[in-house]
Amino acid sequence: MITNTELENKGNQFPKTVISFKKELDTIEFTSENGVVLLLTVLRDSVLRFRYATNTNFENDFSYAITKYASTGYNKLEIEERKSEYIITTSKLICHISKKNLKVSIYDAIDNVLINQDELGFHWEESYEYGGNIVKMSKTTLNGESYYGLGDKPDHLNLKGKRFENWVTDSYAFGKGTDPIYKAIPFYTGLHNNKSYGIFFDNSFRSFFDFASERRNATSFWAQGGEMNYYFIYGPEMSDVVANYTDLTGRPHQLPPLWALGYHQCKWSYYPESKVKEVTNKFRELQIPCDAIYLDIDYMDGFRCFTWNKEYFPDPKRMVKELSDDGFQTVVIIDPGIKIDQNNDVFKEALEKDYFCKRADGPYMKGKVWPGECYFPDFTKPEVREWWANLYQELIEDIGVRGVWNDMNEPAVMEVPNKTFPNDVRHNYDGNFCSHRKAHNVYGMQMARATYQGLKKFAFPKRPFVITRSAYSGTQRYTSTWTGDNVATWEHLWIANVQAQRMAMSGFSFAGSDIGGFAEQPNGELFARWIQLGVFHAFCRTHSSGDHGEQEPWMFGDEITGIVKKFIELRYQLLPYLYTTFWFYHTEGIPMLKSLVLYDQEDIQTHYRTDEFIFGNQIFVCPILEPNSKGRRLYLPKGNWYNYWTNEFTEGGKEMYVDATLDTMPIFMKEGAIIPKFPIQQYVGEKNFDEVTLDVYYKHGKEISTFYDDAHDGYDYTKGRFSLRTFKLTGRSNELIIQQHKSGKFDATYSKFKLNLLGLPFNITKIEIDNEEISFEDIKGSTGDELIIDKNFNELHIM
Ligand code: GLC
Repeated sequence: MITNTELENKGNQFPKTVISFKKELDTIEFTSENGVVLLLTVLRDSVLRFRYATNTNFENDFSYAITKYASTGYNKLEIEERKSEYIITTSKLICHISKKNLKVSIYDAIDNVLINQDELGFHWEESYEYGGNIVKMSKTTLNGESYYGLGDKPDHLNLKGKRFENWVTDSYAFGKGTDPIYKAIPFYTGLHNNKSYGIFFDNSFRSFFDFASERRNATSFWAQGGEMNYYFIYGPEMSDVVANYTDLTGRPHQLPPLWALGYHQCKWSYYPESKVKEVTNKFRELQIPCDAIYLDIDYMDGFRCFTWNKEYFPDPKRMVKELSDDGFQTVVIIDPGIKIDQNNDVFKEALEKDYFCKRADGPYMKGKVWPGECYFPDFTKPEVREWWANLYQELIEDIGVRGVWNDMNEPAVMEVPNKTFPNDVRHNYDGNFCSHRKAHNVYGMQMARATYQGLKKFAFPKRPFVITRSAYSGTQRYTSTWTGDNVATWEHLWIANVQAQRMAMSGFSFAGSDIGGFAEQPNGELFARWIQLGVFHAFCRTHSSGDHGEQEPWMFGDEITGIVKKFIELRYQLLPYLYTTFWFYHTEGIPMLKSLVLYDQEDIQTHYRTDEFIFGNQIFVCPILEPNSKGRRLYLPKGNWYNYWTNEFTEGGKEMYVDATLDTMPIFMKEGAIIPKFPIQQYVGEKNFDEVTLDVYYKHGKEISTFYDDAHDGYDYTKGRFSLRTFKLTGRSNELIIQQHKSGKFDATYSKFKLNLLGLPFNITKIEIDNEEISFEDIKGSTGDELIIDKNFNELHIM
């Protein structure tokens, strides 16, 4: 940790004896002899906020991360004063606070097991250079404790034994262990004794987390300024911890349009228009589904935001329309740097209105990015965000662009050693004026937020789609994200897998990697393996820097093209399942990808697994991460599963070898699952189909599955026009019952379900739908155990 040697009060300082205590509504205030104040707020029975001041002085309570929609309210709050401590009890937690030194210990209210305990607890160092404090917290590492989360760290899923930094950084060609990179999500989950809790350190200064690395028995976090202000979130299930974290920091404000969950093709850069068309035409010719095409910086005039290079794109509106008629949505890049150019309206307006960031003594913050020397809007000022949102009117409303890609928003600055603004740059921070030290980690988030507001306004009545590179906690409310400039190596395939899982357990599920790798070029095998993984990420886009060769699905020969097509088709078939998974994320904050530890924390075999994950709730996926593989070892979690390719029944809870030649990969379906599938389409909305397939995986026992659907765009679903179907499957040795519960007012165009009955242990002799016997012949599909029935059945009984 940082130790200051220049001050009179040098080194660490600690709270002294508590001299007073008072309670106001949900907040309890403890004041120590040396002016430390702890404000403990009970937000919910399982969520506590700890805020510390020194010299009894708190900052204005403002956060970009916490949403106003966070739920509050508890069932129980009791405070007891004892000789040496205070005891605060909710229905879920018991929190002890020592009178001697303000140290905190938190126990499970039900079984009284220790969940989390201060080691040194809160302490601080004064900062002579900047004023204020370097605020620190250390916790005891408990027996067998594991740690997860922290956003995009390209490292082992389990963070134990490591130290990390949060300072969003442009990290071209980063590698395994590079730290920090693009995102700052100061939220982690601890797990021990089958109990999971989370800590969200809501402080946007450069911060650090040390998970039993510096000292084996201590886990600590600290920041170079601001307050010690953290939320303690109890599970005990890890998925509840993540869900509660997104309750605090928000979930996507709306569902994405379904096309945004399709396959996206990107490159730096596709130009001119004829090249764009060549690529999109090829997709249709080869019948490889694709929904979005991206224009990287070269579409602009000299990289000036909100302009077009009219030589390459003479009539953008026509082109965008033609692409859209062919089922392609156009997404364009917009960076924060505005070229210094008196002939450019955006520049002139921002200058006139005083929207650009300035240095401490007054000059503008000048930095080099793609367009050359630029100034940068201060997105932490509400007025600037509104202006920025309005700049999108022409692009979105008039030209018809459907998505915006915000890049370089760390903010990245070229040719300077720290790759970003100097510390002295001033920011508005929504009226909480500060330097770049405090605003750096939220700058990109506020840019993406302003972009989101613009799209929301001008794309209406359609839904917005935004993607950002930099992010702070809470950014998931506005936008999707990708993991930045990775490299076409097998190690990066491993990294992409871990990052997508980690982002999901850090509350930001709508994430993906540059498939195939951004820098350098993959061979066909690596590209195919990467596509296989990428189709199971919420955001699925191929992107490459372009200067190393072509990276379209057909660039690696026929065999690879065929494999890539097969997996993209699988994604399109699974779209309703993926959409349902997104709906659970959007409404309940359930991570879309579940690392095995999140899926089954009770099974300690899962605590150090990195490769396998559950896609949604019922599909197990394990990518092949090594060249020349014909299969691999993996750990299939407890329960019973069906091999997706062979439908072979397999018992989980064990390590096994699974075959996977290049055209396949290990995928297992949970027994009892009912998986909705759409027909293969070249893009979302291409076909009007009459049937949705339900793959039904027989289980001896019960299982519940869900199928959410709506108009796939627009906001009608928020007014009740959605369709939510819950299937309750009950299997016995000679019968299978599926009960359907329906809610919502949306009526899709399809009228039938094609049930594909898999693993039935008996021959069908009798079928009843809603208690009426039906002849098998009448509803039999084309093959084996296939039934075609009205989608609105209540109960299907197969004997
Ligand atoms: C950055 C982005 C990359 C983009 C490039 C050019 O490196 O991370 O995705 O293609 O800039 O805009």
